[in-house]
Amino acid sequence: MPKVFYITTPLYYVNAAPHIGHSYTTVAADTLARYHRLKGEAVFLLTGTDEHGQKIEQAAAAAGRSPHIFVDTVVEQFITLWRMLGISYNDFLRTTQPRHTQAVQAILTRLRDEGKLVRAAYQGWYCTPDETFWTEAELAPAIGSAAPVCPTCQRLLEPVKEVGWHLPMRTAQSWLVQFVTSHPGVVQPTSRYNELLGMLEQPLPESLCITRPRSRVSWGIPVPFDPEHVTYVWFDALLNYITAPGYIDNPTRFQQLWPADVHLIGKDILRHHAVYWPILLHALGLPDTLMPQRIMAHGWWKVGEQKMSKSLGNIVDPTVVIQHVLAGQPYAADIYRYFLLREVPFGQDGHFSEEALKTRLSADLGNDLGNLVNRTISMIERYCAGQIPVLESIGCAVEDEPLRQAAMALPNLVDEAMDRLEFSAALEAIMRLVTSANRYIEVAAPWKLSKDPQMAGRLRMVLRGLAEVVRIIAITLDPFMPSVAEAIWQQLGSGTTSRRLADSQQWGMLPTGQSTGPHPVLFPRGKDATPA
Ligand code: MSP
Repeated sequence: MPKVFYITTPLYYVNAAPHIGHSYTTVAADTLARYHRLKGEAVFLLTGTDEHGQKIEQAAAAAGRSPHIFVDTVVEQFITLWRMLGISYNDFLRTTQPRHTQAVQAILTRLRDEGKLVRAAYQGWYCTPDETFWTEAELAPAIGSAAPVCPTCQRLLEPVKEVGWHLPMRTAQSWLVQFVTSHPGVVQPTSRYNELLGMLEQPLPESLCITRPRSRVSWGIPVPFDPEHVTYVWFDALLNYITAPGYIDNPTRFQQLWPADVHLIGKDILRHHAVYWPILLHALGLPDTLMPQRIMAHGWWKVGEQKMSKSLGNIVDPTVVIQHVLAGQPYAADIYRYFLLREVPFGQDGHFSEEALKTRLSADLGNDLGNLVNRTISMIERYCAGQIPVLESIGCAVEDEPLRQAAMALPNLVDEAMDRLEFSAALEAIMRLVTSANRYIEVAAPWKLSKDPQMAGRLRMVLRGLAEVVRIIAITLDPFMPSVAEAIWQQLGSGTTSRRLADSQQWGMLPTGQSTGPHPVLFPRGKDATPA
């Protein structure tokens, strides 16, 4: 059975509506999934929601709702946004679903029965917004003040002293160090890998407390062998990556999917994914070959100099961006996707502003991409009766060769960039070809050729070449902007032309004589902008 390319997003907390930070990870994961499908690979994209824990219990109480009803409402907002953004997930796991809760309980029982869990008192500090424990040793520099702050989000911590079930961590540290140093690509980008090495230079806390007393937090998966406790939300949530593919209930499927090829996360949850998660899998007896293949931690979207966060009140709502800021654009969701992945190299922090979004829209998309497609199709309509002109058997003239070669080189450039998860570099390569093709139009000047009947063959050659370039752009752009790519196909006349990535490495695949379709402007300006 061939291995399926398995991609995950974090499970999003449903304490509040999704913002652009959440949509960033999901759009990146979707683009990666679509890219691998385009290569002809079987892909499984998992996303979902993290629904337990203190933070959600508190948000539900503040909204005057029961946690069950509260999470059901917020989950709908995530699903609606993913639909709007065209997210092609294969599974959506909610941590409150019985398939997950039962599997988590089975895993807890297995760990307890195998003597891997220890019941002990715990003393430390807790960050409720991050749902994360910190020991005094980890907080060393901050401690001393009466109320230390969370090293990740700088918010006030609460003291915690309670009994619970623990998963030993310190005893697994030498294994983890050995594993990560022998797999340097496991955490990316390099800055995050180095951050992990830094974390592992210090002794890890003795253990991770994986339960909470029910007396304090009741909204969690009950611990099957200890009715006084519920499962710690991070332990429950991380396990989704194996419960969804069937670790407990479907070993055949699990074998096909696991290990995850890419866990996409934000940099704030690196410790959970690169320390707790492998230690947990190791405790379950998974060998090194079944550890996650790659954990890619992207940067933050900031507004001004601040990370977006609900408590700071600087949240950017993707729905508002798509429906209002981009009002009148028929492909608003794709424009938004393009902006997220093009604006900032994946792994670095980015700054969101409407101005930056509008600049990308008018410069890259309107002036460059939209213009290229529109001019190409309009000229085929005008000068070739709206039919894809013949591909001259002699191929390209010398002056056309650089453009043809640039187009033929594009798929490899995109492939190398996607392999490194450099989405912005892949888009940059596509847009470079767009720019070259626009320049070529200026030089080849089909409107002049059209005036000279002796140049009819040359005119056809130029326009056929441009149509091929547009086809190659439509294929490579598809994972990033699926609706725009589809619209370009329609304008090219759609037909039966194969649209796999391999086809972008061939010149001349468009059927000669195929009728082009209507060609409304892809990215209308100002008063011309009306929704599709
Ligand atoms: N529930 C946990 C994840 C459990 S995974 C087993 C969680 N949820 S979260 O909703 O708070 O965050 C989910 C993801 O959104 C994280 O990867 C986080 O980095 C990302 N983002 C949240 N705010 C962000 C920005 N401002 N910018 C970019 N991404 C950020 O953590």
